[in-house]
Amino acid sequence: MKPGSAGDRPRGPTETAVKPGFAGDRPREQPGPVMPAFADFARAARDLAPRTAVVLGSGLAGSTCAFTERASVDFGDVPGLAPPTVQGHGGRLTVGEWAGAPALLFLGRLHFYEGHPRSAVTGTVRTAAELGATRIVLTNAAGGINPALGPGGLMAIRGHLKLLGSTAWRAIAAGAAPSQPYSARLLEVMRAHERAAGRELLAGVYAALTGPSYETPAEIRALATCGADAVGMSTALEAEEAARLGLEVAAISCITNKAAGLGDAALDHAEVLVNAKLAFDRMGELLARLVASVA
Ligand code: HPA
Repeated sequence: MKPGSAGDRPRGPTETAVKPGFAGDRPREQPGPVMPAFADFARAARDLAPRTAVVLGSGLAGSTCAFTERASVDFGDVPGLAPPTVQGHGGRLTVGEWAGAPALLFLGRLHFYEGHPRSAVTGTVRTAAELGATRIVLTNAAGGINPALGPGGLMAIRGHLKLLGSTAWRAIAAGAAPSQPYSARLLEVMRAHERAAGRELLAGVYAALTGPSYETPAEIRALATCGADAVGMSTALEAEEAARLGLEVAAISCITNKAAGLGDAALDHAEVLVNAKLAFDRMGELLARLVASVA
């Protein structure tokens, strides 16, 4: 099999491929009475009145230094969400104080490649807005395409290429500009915090693919040509939905590996989870400063 052909596609976060966008036989978004666990949680959230919501992606649940939880609820008990199916994705919504500032915190998210429909993938964002958030910070694990981005590095997302539909490549190859639902103000706040800590926070373009497999080296070369700095399987739909709802949006990728064909080792989900730990402290500190400074 030639390098870059479909046969050497590295296996992704799910063991077996689930058709993106197909819900399988799990219950989804059944309209019905609000679960008592969520009603209790919503009361606690309204008392604290958080304006900022944070979504912690794959393996990043350890980036919560300085967060004090006051109440929490399982995704499965939140109307419009569903329990996640992937190891390392948690699946709890919490509310508390981050460095003293009230915040909603989603530990995990729902992905397209798990078989969740778009409406469930963006359910986190609508829940945040319904609970009063006016800004959202999305985090994810990603593969580094830009040579400056290696395991343990962080990249603020300034734009994304959304490769989620059957005609998406055609639009990108025709030169479609990256979508920019991201707040320039929040980006500058994050970069200023990192400068003050003596670090540079790179700002780049995130390519969002459906997964569930990791990319082939050939796809990564194509993405690099199209201007992508990092690649992952989330965030774009949530960022667009948040901007549509009028929320200020920031997003940060934690680079867990060199993208396919750019590093020495073969990609796998276990490596992503291990390398996410390299960034726990920096990510946690950045989130705490961001939440506290815009509260
Ligand atoms: N590709 C897609 N998603 C990812 C990667 C990657 O290399 N690393 C972590 N999430």
